[in-house]
Amino acid sequence: MRSLNLAAVAALCVIVSACSKDGGSSSQAPADAPTPAAAPAPTDAEKAAALAALPAPYNTGDLSNGQSKFALCRSCHTITEGGPDLTGPNLYGVFGRKAGVKEGYSFSDAVKAAGFIWDAQQLDKWLADPRGFMPGTKMTFAGIKNEKDRIDLIAYLKVETGYQTPAK
Ligand code: HEC
Repeated sequence: MRSLNLAAVAALCVIVSACSKDGGSSSQAPADAPTPAAAPAPTDAEKAAALAALPAPYNTGDLSNGQSKFALCRSCHTITEGGPDLTGPNLYGVFGRKAGVKEGYSFSDAVKAAGFIWDAQQLDKWLADPRGFMPGTKMTFAGIKNEKDRIDLIAYLKVETGYQTPAK
């Protein structure tokens, strides 16, 4: 058992490369261990996998077209985790969240009273014609008339805002 432990300690030493030559058995854990870093940004491969896991028609969405359509939103919205609210609220985690409840942002009464949970269907109607879909909203955006552009943008937003496809 002891040799096994030593092997494990030695392996750890290789990883942290901070142990003394005796295998580190007498050294203490460093008090100033670095705090765990934030989760790394997903790689392109992870984004492709997240896209493929979406329900149709979003699983075949064009992420690069979605990204270029997001240019229509980015003057008012950030989508990164913990990103600031601009004219509109930060959109990280919006899928699966109730409309108008994101903390720290002052929504219109119309959105606060909407009472639904954001999913692809609601977002599609919202993006096609925000003020027609929800009279009284303060989102002054004309809408995206092209359905394929909305699909691509929603796929992009799902992949970028931390949406987790529910396990089947
Ligand atoms: C001119 C600024 C502006 C633009 C452009 C804009 N938005 Fe908004 N957005 C807002 C505002 C303001 C609100 C809050 C609406 C309210 O409270 O009535 C909002 C709210 C939202 C919400 C509801 C969030 C929640 O938590 O309920 C979503 C989703 C959204 N926008 C998505 C988008 C997307 C996607 C685009 C690009 C196609 C976009 N918006 C373009 C200003 C904008």
